Amino acid sequence: MTDFLSGLAISPPDPLLGIMSAFRADPRENKFDLGVGVYRDETGSTPVLEAVKTAERHITQRQATKAYEGPRGNAGFCEAIETLVFGAQSEARSEERVVSVTSPGGCGAIFLAMTLAARTSPKGRIWVSDPSWPNHLKVAAAAGRTALGYPYMAPDGTLDFPRMMDALRQATPGDIVIFQGPCHNPSGIDPSEEQWAYLGDFCERQGLFPLLDVAYHGFAHGLEEDMAGIRAFLAACRETMVAYSCSKNFGLYRERTGCFLVQTEAPRDAQAVASHLADIARAVYSMPPAHGAAIVETILASEELTALWHKELTSMRSRIRDLRRNLADALKSATGMDGFEALANQTGMFSLLPLQGPITDMLRVQSAVYLPASGRINIAGLTQEGIAPLVGQLTPYLQASLAQQ
Ligand SMILES: Cc1ncc(COP(=O)(O)O)c(C=O)c1O
Repeated sequence: MTDFLSGLAISPPDPLLGIMSAFRADPRENKFDLGVGVYRDETGSTPVLEAVKTAERHITQRQATKAYEGPRGNAGFCEAIETLVFGAQSEARSEERVVSVTSPGGCGAIFLAMTLAARTSPKGRIWVSDPSWPNHLKVAAAAGRTALGYPYMAPDGTLDFPRMMDALRQATPGDIVIFQGPCHNPSGIDPSEEQWAYLGDFCERQGLFPLLDVAYHGFAHGLEEDMAGIRAFLAACRETMVAYSCSKNFGLYRERTGCFLVQTEAPRDAQAVASHLADIARAVYSMPPAHGAAIVETILASEELTALWHKELTSMRSRIRDLRRNLADALKSATGMDGFEALANQTGMFSLLPLQGPITDMLRVQSAVYLPASGRINIAGLTQEGIAPLVGQLTPYLQASLAQQ
C-alpha cells in the first residue's frame, strides 16, 4: 500500500475564492459582491462579446485540423497583438527586434517572463508595486525569485511618483521591475505618459529588466490612448518584456488567451529569446492553447469584426466610467467628505476603498457587502441601481474609518 497523500496539508484557499463562495451561500436578498474579478454588465452577467461569437462561427466553419500549432502558437494572433502594442509603424518590429509567442492568458505570459529573467539574471530580484495584484508575488515565488515592493499610491488616491522612484533607485542592475499598465490592479492609478517615458529611461540607464503587465488594454481611455505610455516606455528602454492578456478586453477569460512579447537590443537576441521561450514552455504546457488566439486573430483580421469589438469595448469602458462618476458623487454626498474624487479619475475595474482587514469582515457579516481584506472593489461588478443601497451600507464604515485617519 502506498501513502503519499495522507500527510499532505490542505493548501490555504485563495481568499478571493473564499469570498466568492461565501457570497453565493449568503441567503440575504440584498447582498453586494464587490470582490468579483471579471467585468459584469448592468444585468450582472459577463456575456460573450458578439464579435467573439461571430468569430467562433467562422472558426468552426473553416477549421480543418486540431493538430499542434507549434511553440509560437498562432502567428497571425501574435502579429496582431504586436500591432496593438507597438503600433502599425514600429522601428523595433521592422528591425526584427521583437519576439512574440501565444501564452495561456496573461498569467502564462508573466510566468514566461519570470522564468526567462531567471535565466538571464539569476540573482535579479523582482520589484512589484505595493499594493499590487497578489499573483505577481505567487509567480515570482514559483520562479524562485525574491520579491520587493515599491510604494505606489499616495493617500489622496493618486500616484506617489517621488516615493516610487526613491524605492526603485535601490534596484540594482539585473533586477526585474513589474509595471502594470493601464488600469493598475488594485488601485486604478496609472502613470502619465511623461512618467512612463521617464520610467523607461530610468530602467535603461539603471540596467533593470522591466516587465510591462498589460491586462486591461482599452479599459482606461481607448485602445490608442492606453498604449501611449507603454510605447513611450518601449521607445526609451530597448530591452523590455510585455505580458498581454486578452481575458478582459476580449472577454475571453476561460479561453486562456495571452501573448508574451520581448523587445530586444538586436535581432540575434530575439532569436535566442524565441529559442528559450520554446524551451521553457515545453517543460510546462508544451504548446499554448489555440481557440482564444484564433478568435482574436479572426476579429483583428476583419474590419467588420474589429469595428464591432471596438464598439463593445467602448461600451464596457463607458459603463465603468459612468459607474465611477456616480459612485464617487454618491459617496461624497452620503458621507459629506471630499476624499472620493480620485475614484472617478482612476481607471479600469478596480479601486481601493479606505476599508481594510476587520472592517471588511464586519461589512460582510452585518451588511452582506463582500470585498477582500485589502479593500479592493470591482467597479464593474456594480449596477447603477445598486449604487444607492450599497452607499447606504458603506457610509457608516467609511465615516468611522476616515475619522480615524
Ligand atoms: C494585473 C493583472 N495581470 C495579469 C492578469 C492576467 O489574467 P489572465 O491570466 O486571466 O489573462 C490579471 C487578471 O486578473 C491582472 O489583474
